[in-house]
Amino acid sequence: MQFPSFFCIFSLFLYAATPGSCALRGEILTTHHIRQSDEGPNAAAKRLGKIWFGSCYDSNYERDQSMMKYFNDPKFIGQLTPENSMKPASIQRTKSQYDFKGGDAVVAQAKKLGAKIRCHFLMGPDQNAPFIQQGSGINRQATLEYLDGYMKTVMTHFGTNCYSWDVVNEALTESGQVRTDVPWYRLIGHDFVEQAFAIASKHRPSGVKLCYNDFRLEASAAKLQGALDMANRIKSVGGEIDCISFESHISASNHPTVDSFTASLNRVAEAGMEVPISELDVVREGGATEAQQAAAYALAVKACLRVEKCPGVTVWGLSDSFGWLKGKQADLFDTAGRPKTAFTSLMGVLSSSSKSDVSSEEAEPQSQPRGSTVKIFSRSPHSVRRHEWYRPRSHFV
Ligand code: XIL
Repeated sequence: MQFPSFFCIFSLFLYAATPGSCALRGEILTTHHIRQSDEGPNAAAKRLGKIWFGSCYDSNYERDQSMMKYFNDPKFIGQLTPENSMKPASIQRTKSQYDFKGGDAVVAQAKKLGAKIRCHFLMGPDQNAPFIQQGSGINRQATLEYLDGYMKTVMTHFGTNCYSWDVVNEALTESGQVRTDVPWYRLIGHDFVEQAFAIASKHRPSGVKLCYNDFRLEASAAKLQGALDMANRIKSVGGEIDCISFESHISASNHPTVDSFTASLNRVAEAGMEVPISELDVVREGGATEAQQAAAYALAVKACLRVEKCPGVTVWGLSDSFGWLKGKQADLFDTAGRPKTAFTSLMGVLSSSSKSDVSSEEAEPQSQPRGSTVKIFSRSPHSVRRHEWYRPRSHFV
């Protein structure tokens, strides 16, 4: 698909009109850049050495035909994350039944596109199987056995169709402590994350990466430190973790600078792990302008380009017409399917960058114990440490 040249012309206008608002400050867009923007974001990301530009997706997106042209275009999309269909609540509505229909549809779409899949998720704060979500009635041992069976079945079913699995989603508070307001804490205890990774390590199909996924890791130093500490604890009990993914649900009026975003990504890279941006979107709150939103999208993409271990950027939906932040104008296309300034801005960063602008420095890998004995079911629930009760916080604080 050729992207209309007005994207490029509009990009030129945008960057000329808002000096300092975006990552391309001081650079001159040439016809070379304009030609490159015909590539589409995935093709551009790949040219820059990234593995993908992607979006969340589920088969209900088919009702939005204005977006399906992008979801059917490998130049545009090179990676899909099932928005809901691979979550335990979708797969296991009752204890005895597994339903893979929704997840299989994402696999089929990804195969059609030649796209990677970030499989999402095995354990989360919510959207778990209903009997887990209750958070009571099963003891620690039985919960761990259930989890063992669940992960084995689901990881085997999707196999190497997954580039990675988000093994655990959103298990930390803003201050980097393990959340105590989630069913897994009540059922397993304080080490529920270590247990989840230990079990996933046992069942992972060859080459599938195991990730921890959370929000505000780009913004909260304490939370990021909590995630890095957690990765060390996982490894110290023989579990494996390959990636910490930054959801990056950010706000147009309140987000880190490109340097501090990059520095946060680099902390994960320096610890030897991949660091995808996994759910990027930018809400416009408090009168934030379209240009501010566009600058925030550009900045996040630029941060990923600067960090070799960032395999790509995934946006959490393409269009404002539906999705989890419906009404907040957080996406790249408007409700009528027209590209917003945010899209031209993101595309501008990708199309105006060349491989020499992009970091290819290898971060110093830390030794990661692999193949060592995986300890699971090892702590009694009585050894659980109690932390302050989690105060729910917005993704956008
Ligand atoms: C959201 C979906 O987009 C919604 O459709 C659903 O109702 C709730 O979950 N962080 C995550 C995603 O990791 O799984 C969430 O997805 C958005 C926040």
